[in-house]
Amino acid sequence: MMTNSAIGIACSNIALIKYWGNRDDALRLPVNPSISFNLQALFSRTEVVFDPMGQHDEVMIDEQQAAPSAAQRVSQHLDLIWRSAYFATASPRPVARVISTNNFPMGAGIASSASAFAALTMAACAALKLNKSEAELSALARQGSGSASRSVPGGFVAWQDAYAYSIAPPAHWDLVDVIGVVSTGHKKTGSTEGHALAPTSPLQMARVADTQRRFELCQKAVLARDFALLAEVMEQDALMMHGVMMTSQPSLMYLLPGSLAIMHAVRELRGQGVPVAFTIDAGPNIHCICEAAAAEQVITLLRGLNGVNDVLVSGVGGAAKAEA
Ligand code: DP6
Repeated sequence: MMTNSAIGIACSNIALIKYWGNRDDALRLPVNPSISFNLQALFSRTEVVFDPMGQHDEVMIDEQQAAPSAAQRVSQHLDLIWRSAYFATASPRPVARVISTNNFPMGAGIASSASAFAALTMAACAALKLNKSEAELSALARQGSGSASRSVPGGFVAWQDAYAYSIAPPAHWDLVDVIGVVSTGHKKTGSTEGHALAPTSPLQMARVADTQRRFELCQKAVLARDFALLAEVMEQDALMMHGVMMTSQPSLMYLLPGSLAIMHAVRELRGQGVPVAFTIDAGPNIHCICEAAAAEQVITLLRGLNGVNDVLVSGVGGAAKAEA
């Protein structure tokens, strides 16, 4: 076998309806449907080189050798992709060199695993010259990181079960995510452990039971570009997820004083008629979703708040891609 390599590029995404908890942890099949849009300005670029002469996998992330746990997760994902194509042949997977860069801080509640596993899936499948459909690529990415399934299709994306699909292209609605970075430190409890803790909260069952309603309202808001409806359902959904997190055993408390300062300021600004609303991932940073015309005002607001260290801005991004 000759050396085969490819590059995958995938955006991060921000969920408007959150994924929290699995019905199958090993397969990363979600307990509830979610909706997101891709973040055009925040992406991972990953090169995969399969080298039959190599001794063992090598994984570089942001110019540093990956921690053993991260490297192992990457190797397992390459095994999965290999098995998806060559299971019957029983031939061993060639060793890989993986070189990945993110243009945003890892592990700070900006979904680096989403863009990372989407980009890795795109690169590995292209390097192995596998002819996979978008749904198959999304389903493979999902098994690396659940939210990565949503970074494969473009624009506004829904994920209900095995794979994610686009519900509207990027140009459908000119939304901007203005992220108030409160902390860039690595979070104590990652999403994978967090998903497993979700059932320990007595609130999770109620949250899941009501998700179909929120999912449908959010889809309706996106398709109709109804910001008021989006704001209401999106904030409620994020707060329900954080309610579950805070009441899990052990309790997961991601919010910091700076997070709350942004949340209050966003609501005050919306009260003045500005189309802006917040959502929050498994971290302290606050994603302020607004219509593009309001972005400057939101950026200025965040920059003036105590506890906000940085502000990242992104519009809606396209599908993941691979290059030879
Ligand atoms: C809070 O996809 O990061 O961001 O599958 O364990 O990698 P793993 O989890 P991950 O979970 C994302 C959780 C969230 C909400 C969301 O993006 O829907």
